[in-house]
Amino acid sequence: MPTLEDNKRFWSDEYDWETLGNEWSADWGGPDMQWYGTLLPRIHAFVPTGTILEIACGCGRWTRYLQGLCTRLVGVDLSERCIRICRQRFRDLSHVEFHLNDGTSLAAVSAPLDFVFSFDSLVHADIDVIEAYLSQLAGLLRRDGVVFLHHSNLGEYARLPGFETLFSRLGFLERRLHGRDFSVDAAKVAAVAQEHGLQCISQEIVGAGGLMIDCLSVLVRRDSPRARENRIFRNTGFTREKRNLRRLARLYAFRQDDEKQH
Ligand SMILES: C[S@@+](CC[C@H](N)C(=O)[O-])C[C@H]1O[C@@H](n2cnc3c(N)ncnc32)[C@H](O)[C@@H]1O
Repeated sequence: MPTLEDNKRFWSDEYDWETLGNEWSADWGGPDMQWYGTLLPRIHAFVPTGTILEIACGCGRWTRYLQGLCTRLVGVDLSERCIRICRQRFRDLSHVEFHLNDGTSLAAVSAPLDFVFSFDSLVHADIDVIEAYLSQLAGLLRRDGVVFLHHSNLGEYARLPGFETLFSRLGFLERRLHGRDFSVDAAKVAAVAQEHGLQCISQEIVGAGGLMIDCLSVLVRRDSPRARENRIFRNTGFTREKRNLRRLARLYAFRQDDEKQH
């Protein structure tokens, strides 16, 4: 798995940010359809709100929508280049700030946070990185604050006997998993959250190509009025949802995603 240093180098020096990450929304027919069709329905109960923290904001694919749903938005990312681009891209917005971090620290972020969002970034992070972030969030979240975290679920498969040997033989499969981390899965995130004063209240495990490789976890403080038993859903229809939105985008998505890097 790539180290934090590898990540820093890749996202700052090697990746071509020409279309600011919008290329990853192609399966949905663009970021608008992905936001309004897939992401907003899952987080609508938590926004609009006061302060939003976006962890690993990249070049602002989701910041663009989140900023309109809060009174203050803080973005953190380990890539200097992403932070520079975000500062430039959102320079006219006085309620938005961006901080470079080391891949684990939220020291630059001040409490209280109402909503924490991370999507399409920490699927590559190992359990130590996830734990580092979760361990700081209980202290930063407002009592009724909420975390929406997209992370790997591959750990579920790594526990199967002989999987590592099998997996190392299936190089083609590894490429299809887009660098998901093997040390993380839904159950581990729920357990780590508990250790740090948080509680998972929903986990949607989603798949690609027949494997349930990702998880969308919603977490709250253990003393939150929203705390409840974890509800887990293995959503095998996620790819269908995506395909359908792509078809709808041809009819209903009008914005040209031609924003280029500044
Ligand atoms: C695939 S991009 C996605 C960016 C954005 N979330 C989006 O969906 O457009 C991954 C981003 O995560 C950042 N990143 C990766 N690991 C990180 C970590 N441990 N802490 C902070 N940022 C991280 C990278 O620098 C990069 O900007």
